[in-house]
Amino acid sequence: MDLFEKFGPLLAQRDQLTAIGSLPFGLRMDRVLSPTEAIINGREVILAGTNNYLGLTFHPDCIEAANEAVLAEGTGTTGSRMANGTYALHRALEQDLADFMGVRGAIIFTTGYQANLGVLSALAGAGDYILIDADSHASIYDGCRLSDATIIRFRHNDAEDLDRRLHRLDGDGSNKLIVVEGIYSMLGDRAPLAEIVRVKRAHNAYLLVDEAHSLGVLGENGRGLAEEAGVEDDVDLVVGTFSKSLAAIGGFCTSNHPNLDALRFASRAYIFSASSSPASVASVRATLRVMQSSPELRTQLAGNAQALHDGLSALGLAICAPVSPVIAVKIDDRDLAIMMWNQLLDAGVYVNLAIPPGTPNALSLLRCSVSAAHSAAQIDTICETFAEVGRAAGLVPAG
Ligand SMILES: Cc1ncc(COP(=O)(O)O)c(C=O)c1O
Repeated sequence: MDLFEKFGPLLAQRDQLTAIGSLPFGLRMDRVLSPTEAIINGREVILAGTNNYLGLTFHPDCIEAANEAVLAEGTGTTGSRMANGTYALHRALEQDLADFMGVRGAIIFTTGYQANLGVLSALAGAGDYILIDADSHASIYDGCRLSDATIIRFRHNDAEDLDRRLHRLDGDGSNKLIVVEGIYSMLGDRAPLAEIVRVKRAHNAYLLVDEAHSLGVLGENGRGLAEEAGVEDDVDLVVGTFSKSLAAIGGFCTSNHPNLDALRFASRAYIFSASSSPASVASVRATLRVMQSSPELRTQLAGNAQALHDGLSALGLAICAPVSPVIAVKIDDRDLAIMMWNQLLDAGVYVNLAIPPGTPNALSLLRCSVSAAHSAAQIDTICETFAEVGRAAGLVPAG
């Protein structure tokens, strides 16, 4: 018996899909030239699927901070936060994040994935309930799997469904934790946060918002959907990542709860994994400063998102959600989505290909994410390339 035999169907599917065209698993960026350009397969390509919302990966302040940190503190911490992996830098970033979010405390993790894993698995235990949106990110699902709580899924963005499910638990004295995302990573739609807060209050539940795709993007100060919706005081915990607007790698949890620190002692993802490198932590500190002193980046991002949304909608393509920097084009046929993804790439535009089982409702998506760093000319080129490829596929009328 071969341990790898179980992967037979998966590998057969891979072979079937690669017969249609290359797949993202095989994609290699030969050279990244800027937040919006790279060399792929020997040609210069516009990057329209990087989650680099503010385009700060090459900002001189952030690069300088990372350089200084690597020179001063070395390439890695070689230990977990609980052991030798807490440097003054980690503590300083936690203070910066707490200050920025206007709350009492922050804990940083080595990735955003680990932040959800560490927080959810530690926070909700036996006898507790976690109520998650059905379209939640894999890290939320995996955090739930690791917790001893009872997991209840409610229909995507359906506060009434959440209300019904909580109603059944009323009066049993258990703790209930609702988990939603600011902007959903695949479809680009926002959680109906004001309604969710009303439900949360009615049932005396806790609310965690994963602002991975909305931090730096939404709200007057870029604090995310809760700021935009005016409900920050009702959000008990925010989880976020450094891998999108903050242009590095890592994750965090912020909260006003006086005992947030308990998670440092209870979260296995925090205790048993090496902490973020000094370069990453230092660059995030610098990026946070740039983000706060450059609100025009958010305006630029919103303008670019509107322009791409308008351009792709005008072609008659099916966009999954109202305007946000995540603009997902729905393609009814999976094989066609794979072909179009390859054709877009060959024509010089990289987007994300998202196909089942990694997508909600088994959708096939050509998912774009917009950056503040995209020029108007790049947005036009992305639209023109979609028009060309869409025409060849019969999805965009000729002319
Ligand atoms: C909603 C959400 N949460 C968490 C994560 C994990 O973040 P990271 O990639 O930094 O581990 C992601 C990543 O895409 C995400 O979309």
